Amino acid sequence: LKRGLSTSSAMNAVIKNVTIVGGGLMGSGIAQVAAQTGHNVTLVEVNPDLIKKAEDNIVKSLARVAKKQFKDDPEGGKKFIAESQSRIKGTTDIAEAVKDSDLVVEAIVENMEIKHKFFKTLDEVAPAKTMFASNTSSLSIGEIASVTKRKDRFGGLHFFNPVPVMKLLEVVRIPETSEETYQAFMAWGKAIGKTCVTCKDTPGFIVNRLLVPYVAEAIRMMERGDASPRDIDTAMKLGAGYPMGPIELSDYVGHDTSHSILQGWHKKFPDNPLFVPNESVDKLVKEKKLGLKTGEGFYKYTK
Ligand code: 3HC
Repeated sequence: LKRGLSTSSAMNAVIKNVTIVGGGLMGSGIAQVAAQTGHNVTLVEVNPDLIKKAEDNIVKSLARVAKKQFKDDPEGGKKFIAESQSRIKGTTDIAEAVKDSDLVVEAIVENMEIKHKFFKTLDEVAPAKTMFASNTSSLSIGEIASVTKRKDRFGGLHFFNPVPVMKLLEVVRIPETSEETYQAFMAWGKAIGKTCVTCKDTPGFIVNRLLVPYVAEAIRMMERGDASPRDIDTAMKLGAGYPMGPIELSDYVGHDTSHSILQGWHKKFPDNPLFVPNESVDKLVKEKKLGLKTGEGFYKYTK
């Protein structure tokens, strides 16, 4: 055990101060649910404009939550929004952001080199007690953690989009993750209102390992012209009870994200036919039609 982290104190480690790095779709959602449940949140982005953008998205989403949770109590709803908002501080200074942090959740771009560079710096500036987690959807947690000297305080915390709505949290252990860290992650997941599942550090963990090939297969079905996108979506909604059809879901998740996941897996496991990227998705990415967030993907969206 590391200095200052005795077994008993770590076992009782309560995560109160969290640092979320990256204010995109996932990072802002994670910051929001943590703030909503009484945690002190520091949100780190690379420039003030991106902090502002994340904060605006959080307020919009908090309003949706308040509308539901405080249906007959608009004053209570306003208070909930204001209090949650006041628990989030934005900054561009990572050293400042982690000085009292119990947990850092990284939700930056899905690129191993960039994640390595980030965690190397973070490891130098963060206090010894601070636990690190990555929200990566498809990269290896062990490989990300390898550049730090705290693999025992490292794991995966994988959230789902939209974070304020989706109930699941995948808690990923690497062989080095200590029992204390794992227990602290599980307790924090519960504290922010999620149901936790535990899994090993394998490509896609549980959900994406099943969901990504399923969506790719649906897109292949559309590419072959076996059925229209609308009919594929209707079929899976009404025939399998999914809230969204696979084509709709691919637009919702964002083609840049799913593209980078499949490209990465295909490169690593070229013989696995489930991981072959879709040509039509390559094309959409080249045209910057990334789905819902850019207003067009396989479908067109109006605000
Ligand atoms: N913030 C707050 N609340 C939100 C929200 C957000 N961003 N998005 C939706 N909501 C709320 C709405 O306000 C609404 O509340 P209400 O019940 O009080 O009206 C409720 O959620 C339902 O939303 P909508 O009425 O707009 O629409 P739907 O009923 O179609 O639900 C959905 C939307 C929850 C997104 C649903 O379609 C769904 O569950 N889709 C599947 C999502 C999914 O599979 N996500 C996983 C993607 S994979 C992933 O994230 C992994 C990553 O690594 C790539």
